[in-house]
Amino acid sequence: MKIFTSKSEIKEFLSTQKKDKKSIGFVPTMGALHQGHLSLIKRAKKKNDIAVVSVFVNPTQFDNKEDLDKYPKTYEDDVALLESVNCDVLFFPSVQEIYAENIVSDNFDFDGLEYQMEGKFRDGHFDGVGTIVKTLFEIVEPDTAYFGKKDFQQLQIIKKLVEKYKLPVKIKGRPIFREEDGLAMSSRNTRLSKEHREAAPFIYKTLKKAKKKFGVKAPEELTKWVEKQFKKHPLFELEYFTIADEKTLQTVTEIKENMKYRAFIAVFAGDIRLIDNIRLKNN
Ligand code: PAJ
Repeated sequence: MKIFTSKSEIKEFLSTQKKDKKSIGFVPTMGALHQGHLSLIKRAKKKNDIAVVSVFVNPTQFDNKEDLDKYPKTYEDDVALLESVNCDVLFFPSVQEIYAENIVSDNFDFDGLEYQMEGKFRDGHFDGVGTIVKTLFEIVEPDTAYFGKKDFQQLQIIKKLVEKYKLPVKIKGRPIFREEDGLAMSSRNTRLSKEHREAAPFIYKTLKKAKKKFGVKAPEELTKWVEKQFKKHPLFELEYFTIADEKTLQTVTEIKENMKYRAFIAVFAGDIRLIDNIRLKNN
């Protein structure tokens, strides 16, 4: 695997690959890699000649300094995992290399997608995500980029970014990878206390129960039911649960035919914030 820390060097290397008509599949990450990340990288590798992964903990998408400072950094393990799935190129730039002295986001208009859910609770988060992903696309110039549905809102926002800026890259969304007990894999899971980690499958279990009740209970009633389950739980604090239209991400009160809906959740387990979502079936 080739490792680059400099924009100009990776650009130069990839431009020679493109001249040889090699297709490039790209997976942006913040490192602390797990099977969820690896599933995206394997897909990129399978569908393209070259798989490129970036590992960059992007400061502008964190609204909480402690979360940024404590974000797990496992560079050596990441490199070994990337080698194990035959990743071709790792881009591992410094903050200085990406932002120089000006660590700020651009402002984006994602047609309102940015005001829902994560956008409501994490100030400036999607401006930060938009800034870094656009920058990385400009450096790597991939044919296709892969994103997990774990961060479903992020995936929809990246699709919007590509559409609005007419960026020449295809975006693919991929399934959520889970631990055996159902907890969605996340780099932040390693920061959970033993007690919280053991209790954490409760989140997905509740989502699955909500999925069963969807169509029987109206969205608002179902939301209240989920809120009640979390109120009763001593270890978790629900930040939001919402049933939303997959396209607009707006909370729905009424279910219509031929629409796609998803339930989204954000939960605090102590200091650690976990998110998850599940597709709902309306027939
Ligand atoms: P990060 O949280 O490292 O995630 C990188 C990619 O892996 C994202 O597309 C995310 O949705 C996906 N992913 C994470 N956990 C997953 C799981 N359990 N199953 C499937 N896919 C999963 O998302 C980011 O980084 C950043 O916001 C980034 C896009 C890199 C911009 O900084």
